[in-house]
Amino acid sequence: HLSNLRGLKTGTLRLACATTAKYFIPHLLGPFCKRYPGIEIQFTVANRRQVIERLEQGLDDFYVFSHLPQGLDIDVIEFMANDLVAIAGASHPLTKKNRVSLEEFCQQDFLIRENGSGTRFATEAFFAKQPVKPNVRMTIASNEAIIHSVLSNLGVSILSAHTLAFGEIYDVKVINVDSLPIKSQWSFSWIKGQTLSPIAKVFLDYVETEGREMMAKAVKL
Ligand code: PGA
Repeated sequence: HLSNLRGLKTGTLRLACATTAKYFIPHLLGPFCKRYPGIEIQFTVANRRQVIERLEQGLDDFYVFSHLPQGLDIDVIEFMANDLVAIAGASHPLTKKNRVSLEEFCQQDFLIRENGSGTRFATEAFFAKQPVKPNVRMTIASNEAIIHSVLSNLGVSILSAHTLAFGEIYDVKVINVDSLPIKSQWSFSWIKGQTLSPIAKVFLDYVETEGREMMAKAVKL
């Protein structure tokens, strides 16, 4: 059982993550790879629809979403909250207000992620239940490009709070809008009944026992 000793595990772990998960999945992988230096990781970052396509083709061990696909035979563990928050550039007048009504927020130019994005899916599902709708001005297929567009005063947006929690510090502010944030949960999923490789089993165990706490520490929201 030498190969089961710490550090001697080998094999490939394949993960497919919706783009918004790219801010924290590496923080989960860092300590794991240190513990098992013999493993190779294939980490695919794509929007929700592309991750669903990979799941349908069975290309990876785990699929990370915050908005789970319906009608697929999958096993799921939830591991972290994902709040979608309203944002604006720091100089935007709405950032000076303690509270903004949804109606006033909807009067602003709104920047939305592309079709196929989980963030867009959740935003549309939220507004479908509201009496007011956002004034969509631009569709932008990247969280970072939305943030830069918000910074150049092209409009406001709703993005995962994780987009603001890592890396470059942007001069972006969360606006306190009625009925927001949109609440969702990050989850790991895998195809039901699929035999997990030894390294995938070890990784799942790691996510369940240590991963949640590690994420909570890494994510400073
Ligand atoms: P994204 O979000 O596709 O907008 O990056 C991921 C998700 O919410 O599932």
